[in-house]
Amino acid sequence: MTTTNAKTVKAIPLNSKNEIVTNTTYRNNIASNYTEIIEQLEKNFSYEENKNEYWGPVELSIFYGSPLYEQASETQKIALNHLYWITQYNQTAATEANAVLYNQVTEGVFNAVGGYDILCKELSLETEQEHAHMHAFHSVGYATRKALFGNTAFSRPKPILSKINSKHRLTNISLNLPNLNWENLKEDAWKRISIQLSSGNGKQFYSEYLLSLEQMGRRIPVQTSGLLGQVVPASLSKLLTTNFGSSPFSACFFYATRYMANMLLKNWEQRYLQHYKQLDQSGSIIPAPVAISYYHMLDESFHTTISQLISQDLYKEFNKPTLYEQLMANAVFYRGQELLLSGLSGVMPSTFRNDGVFLQPLYRILRSPVFDFDHDTTMHWLQRALCEEHDGYHMNLKHHHRLLTAMKHAFQPLNYLWPVNRQLGIMSSGCSIMRNLQANKKDYDLFSKSSNQMKNS
Ligand SMILES: [Fe+2]
Ligand SMILES: [Fe+2]
Repeated sequence: MTTTNAKTVKAIPLNSKNEIVTNTTYRNNIASNYTEIIEQLEKNFSYEENKNEYWGPVELSIFYGSPLYEQASETQKIALNHLYWITQYNQTAATEANAVLYNQVTEGVFNAVGGYDILCKELSLETEQEHAHMHAFHSVGYATRKALFGNTAFSRPKPILSKINSKHRLTNISLNLPNLNWENLKEDAWKRISIQLSSGNGKQFYSEYLLSLEQMGRRIPVQTSGLLGQVVPASLSKLLTTNFGSSPFSACFFYATRYMANMLLKNWEQRYLQHYKQLDQSGSIIPAPVAISYYHMLDESFHTTISQLISQDLYKEFNKPTLYEQLMANAVFYRGQELLLSGLSGVMPSTFRNDGVFLQPLYRILRSPVFDFDHDTTMHWLQRALCEEHDGYHMNLKHHHRLLTAMKHAFQPLNYLWPVNRQLGIMSSGCSIMRNLQANKKDYDLFSKSSNQMKNS
């Protein structure tokens, strides 16, 4: 464990590049009104008024390019376009909930280090903005689901897919961890482990935010969804949090994962931004969700700049990571690749995982009033969409290529990452239609068997 003081190891030059970028971003962000516009758009949103328009390019639709899409009616195609929007932003909201917690945890570390006042103000502002974004995404999602699915929109689905879904989650078994009740380990124990093994100079840089929770007698929130809610099981979520809150290095590493999420988002949100501009230039009606996407992307461009700055440059101002911190960072990054970047969806554009995890929601869409298929017809179209090669897969290869190139460029400079992470090895190997067809077929067969059993029981 290192014992030198991170504050005295390297003097931060005034007006350094990092400082200039931070100050400029904060100044521009505080002067912007994109969040306020999003709040207004949400307030005035009515599904009825937006239901006849596409909410983005047609190819950003669930099932686009599959045989089912070819034979769908215009109304169904519009619904699939709306459902893509709400699905993507539902996932975005979950990952932004991670950012709300970890922005505060890591801001508490930068505050403890001192000298990063503007950066901390920017992070607080970003946290407020994420709250507004999440609220807007949930409101539009709720109204859309209610309009398209009617009374069944919020009923709990029967757990047909428990086997398939559980294999996508990390468990103590797959980690080969001793059979302890990790959840009940006291927060104090996680804190001690994190502090002892990190480069944070003992308690010196422990997050002021986490300390304030402790003083108020409040527990550390557990994250179970979003990118970081999935990379570790719920029982280890607090360890991840105390890690991010224990040293400047680990605080900075959080922004590498946030940068990954920013890039995943930008890969499809950029298309909404272009769509907005085209509609605007031609004087056409701009549906509210397209405008929300447009202003969200403008807000997120500030966040992306900060994620990039901290993850690529700022971490160099602090002590080098300990072996433990390197291991944790690489394990989290590796798991992030496995979860969100290791496959190629045939039905969800710009989504890079196999479709097993989506089978249940896809089944519900086809059984809903939007299609009103019976069980056998639903299974027929699911089989064709997931297990047969079609244009949807080929279109997704293009999204994959664009993101892979951007990610390799972004993470190459992070010299503490293992080559498989720096070069996005898992993501690269997922780029195969054949491999994904095989994986989808396995999950489809499992789903088919389970749903038949349920149908006959
Ligand atoms: Fe956001
Ligand atoms: Fe953000």
